[in-house]
Order: sequence, then C-alpha cells, then structure tokens
Amino acid sequence: MARILITSALPYINGIKHLGNLAGSMLPADVYARFQRMRGHEVLYICATDEHGTPAELAAAAAGQDVRTYCDEQHAIQKEIGERFALSWDYFGRTSSPENAGLTQHFAEVLEGRDLIAEIVEKQIYSKADKRFLPDRYVEGTCPNCGYEKARGDQCDNCGKLLEPTELIEPYSTISGSRDLEVRDTRHLQLKQSKMEPRLRQWVDGATSWPPLARSIAYKWLDEGLRDRTITRDLSWGVKVMRDGAVREGFEDKVFYVWFDAPIGYIAATAEWAKATGQDWERWWRTDKGADDVTYVQFMGKDNVAFHTVSFPATILGSEEPWKLVDRLKAFNWLNWYGGKFSTSSKRGVFMDSALELLPSDYWRWYLTSNAPEGSDTQFTWESFQGVINSDLANVLGNFVNRITKYCAAKFDGEVPDVGVPGEAEAWMAAELAERLQALSAHYEAMEFRKAAAETRALWAAGNEYLTKAEPWVKYKTDVDAAAVGVRAGLNLAAVFAIIAQPVIPDAAKAVLDALGVPEGNRAWPDWQDKTLLDALPRGLAITPPNLLFAKIEDASVDEWRERFGGE
Ligand code: 2FM
Ligand code: ZN
Repeated sequence: MARILITSALPYINGIKHLGNLAGSMLPADVYARFQRMRGHEVLYICATDEHGTPAELAAAAAGQDVRTYCDEQHAIQKEIGERFALSWDYFGRTSSPENAGLTQHFAEVLEGRDLIAEIVEKQIYSKADKRFLPDRYVEGTCPNCGYEKARGDQCDNCGKLLEPTELIEPYSTISGSRDLEVRDTRHLQLKQSKMEPRLRQWVDGATSWPPLARSIAYKWLDEGLRDRTITRDLSWGVKVMRDGAVREGFEDKVFYVWFDAPIGYIAATAEWAKATGQDWERWWRTDKGADDVTYVQFMGKDNVAFHTVSFPATILGSEEPWKLVDRLKAFNWLNWYGGKFSTSSKRGVFMDSALELLPSDYWRWYLTSNAPEGSDTQFTWESFQGVINSDLANVLGNFVNRITKYCAAKFDGEVPDVGVPGEAEAWMAAELAERLQALSAHYEAMEFRKAAAETRALWAAGNEYLTKAEPWVKYKTDVDAAAVGVRAGLNLAAVFAIIAQPVIPDAAKAVLDALGVPEGNRAWPDWQDKTLLDALPRGLAITPPNLLFAKIEDASVDEWRERFGGE
C-alpha cells in the first residue's frame, strides 16, 4: 500500500467557483483520489480556501462586510458546495488559520536566517485620497503591454502579463476611483529567488515524472531568469510579519503576500486536519518523520504552475529543512465558455451553485472529466454538454443497466441466474474486459483523465455490444439456460461498470451497486480475473432495477439554459 498526498490548487475565497475552476483542479484531484483509494492506497486529499490578498479584501468591501466575517461565510459556502459536488476532501481548511500563520512565519524566519530574505525599500503607489498604499488589485490602469484599459496592478487579464502596480499607465484607485496617486518608498521583505536558481533547476531536471505541460512552464520561468520577489504587502488582512515573537518593526501595517502564504496553506491545512482528527500531519510532510515514502501529487490550472514549480519550491528548498516536495504535478489548460473565458469578476459562465440547481453533480463531473482541458483549452457549450450526457450516461450506461436489470426482474425473478454454459459472446466480452480494464488503470495512473473517461465509456459500450451478441431475449424463447448466461454476465457487467465509474460519477455508481446488492467491501478497483464476467456476483443474489439513473437533457432545457446563462 502506497501513501499518496493529493492537493488541488486552493480556490480563492472571493465567491463561488465556476465550472472552469472545478474542471482544472478540484474535480480531477477528487477523481484521482477516489481511484487511488479504490486501489487500496492510503490517500490524503487536502484543499482549503485561499483567503488572503486583495481579492478577499475587495470582495468583502463589495459585500459590505468586514473581511473576517466575509471569509467565515464564504468558506462555509464553498465547503458545502464542494461536498454537494461529492469532492471527497479529507480536509478543507483555510489559509487564515493559526496553523498557516505559524508555518508562514516559520518559513520566513528560516529563509532570513539563510540569507535568502532581505529587507528592501521599494516604490509603490500611494493614494492620498484613500490614505494608503495600493498594492496589486487596489490599483488599475492601462496595460503597458497591450493597452487594455482595465489591467490590474498584479496582472493584465487581457494579455496575461504579470505587472507591477507602478508599470500601469494612468493608474486609478479601485477603492475610491481617485487618480491622485503618487509613488512612495515603502519597506518590504524580498525573497532572493535569483540565488536559488541553480538549486531549482537541478530539482526540475530531476522531476522527470512531471507531465509535459508542467515541465515546460517551469523551464520557461527558469530560462527567463528568476527575479527576486517581494513577499510582503502594505495590507492589514493576512499573515503578520514577525520577529522574535513580536510584530517586526516597520511592518506594523504589512502582511505577507498572498502567494507566499497560500501554498504553505497545503501544509497548514494538513495540520488543521491532524488537529481535527487526532492524526499526525508530519508523517505526510516531513521526510525526517516518515514522509519520504509519500508520493505527493498536485493539481492546478496552468496559471498556477510557476508558483508551484518555482516560487513554492524556492521556499521549501531554501529552508534546507526536510519538507516533502511535489513528486507529480498535473496542470490543466482552460475550460472556456463559448470560446471566451469563464470569469468570476464578470460572472460569465456557470458557477457551481447554479449548476447544481439544474442537474445532479454526476452529470457535471462526467462532462468535465470526459472533456477535461488536458492537451489544449476546451470549450463548454450547452450543445456539447447535452450531447455527451445523453449519449454517454443516458444511452450507453443508463440504458445498459436498465435493460439488464429489468429483464432479470421480469424473466428471472430478480435473481442472478445460476445456470448455463458460457460461449463465444462471453469469450469476446472477457477479452474486452481484460484488455480495457488494464488500459483504464494505466490512464488513471498516468492522470490522463479524458482517456480514462473514454475508456470507461468504451467498456460500457462493449457491454451493450455484448448484449447484442448474446441476445438473451431471443435465446429465452428456445433455450432459457442459454439466456441465463447472458443475464448473469450482463448483471456482473453492470456491477463492474458501476465500480469503475465510482471515481467520476460516485452517486450514480452507488445507486447501481446498491440496487445490485454489492456490499461496500466489494467495491474496490477490479483487476481482471476469470470470475469478473460471470461470478463476481453470487448466483441467486436478489437484485432490484435502480430508479432512472440519468434523465436525457431535452432541447427545451438547453434553450432555457442558453437564455438564462448566455452562451452564443
Ligand atoms: O489561482 C488561484 O485560484 C489561487 N487561489 C491558487 C492558490 S494555490 C496554492 F498555492 F495555494
Ligand atoms: Zn495587457
């Protein structure tokens, strides 16, 4: 049994996440965690809300709440929606926890002790009207790169370029709109990343098992040359900057930059989990305390890769303490909304809460996994969503389970038949199962989610083809025993199909397995065995046809949703 630590990029606290966020981090991490648990491994899947920085402060101000109250509320909301999406976090923590403050302060202290942090004076934008500095998103203006007029102080949303607030042309305060701004000196801490470059490069060189997208982004950053970066901000909400047990002199109105403390939040949320459950977090994170046999897998969108392959490792490696580093990093491209972007700030696209008002989570989980933005950006459209759900879930899987269980109930008293001799059709299906189950496991191990979904679907489709070949309904008229073999195989297949569907569509899979009377203990990942096709279910077992598994999505619904959510 292996030990696998899984984290998905920590969602910002500012509002409910859209389907693009879900598809590129939390959902695939969950699917992978479920698969590895089914394999019998010891899995710890950790996530948390990313609660600091200007997005949190701005959203709280917009909601008319103090930032702590806002974060408390939003954390509870995101946790609840994640659970309704069947995200099987072992713990969903918060970067505003005392654990994260303590660890962040610890890393800063150790890095300073190793001469990797320096106090510097830099120029930042100060607003006389607001009587404060305007870091990051507190200032907007025209992008020096592309001319977009609403570029933010940390990044241009139009061209993607990372920016410094002082680079903006014609800047204005997003608090008051004031343009009465000036550049002033302010004291900050800087992480000397440039000094760490050889060490980081050596580590990335050794990370041969990372998927290509992550590696190429890491090298791009290293090749451009690492810049030292400021890790504090003139803000009040965040992790305080300490020295010798007291707030550091001159840093009374400053906190650590959100991207410095957020990834440390992975460790801190594990510590929160440990505290809540009486477990030991260090055996997952400290290689001197047992974590050397942990495989650590991270999931994130491509915009996060640099922070996880360069900045966070700089913190960890720079400390020279025995912390666990990421082993495998799975990055995703964008899921787009009709060719454009999903956008939290402009409320464009479908968000997790409204998605669940339309359909159960399995429908979304299936679509977003089978169309995961892996090799390139992909598009969400209502038409493709309808097509995928109706064909894969309603026609292929739903229909198979429905046909075979109803037929068993009608002709074999709802019991797994005991008689009959397997023939050619069974031999064909057994070979399909043997080959495809192996391929499916390999796709999951490789974290190739589209391929895993396609293989799952191919197995379901093979089941339908098997029934066409075996045609128990035809044989029944002349040879009940021959029909019985087909029904037995069909019921066993329904069980296998539901078992392998558990990582992606756990609720529907459970409904099928409950209807087939498969005990909880027999739902682990199936490796091919001779009994898989005909004798995984005990003969004579009583089964009940499940209720309708998946309703087809009608054109009228698509029209209504297109109207409601936009999408042309
Ligand atoms: O891009 C984002 O949504 C960030 N909140 C991800 C943070 S990941 C980690 F480092 F905390
Ligand atoms: Zn730009």
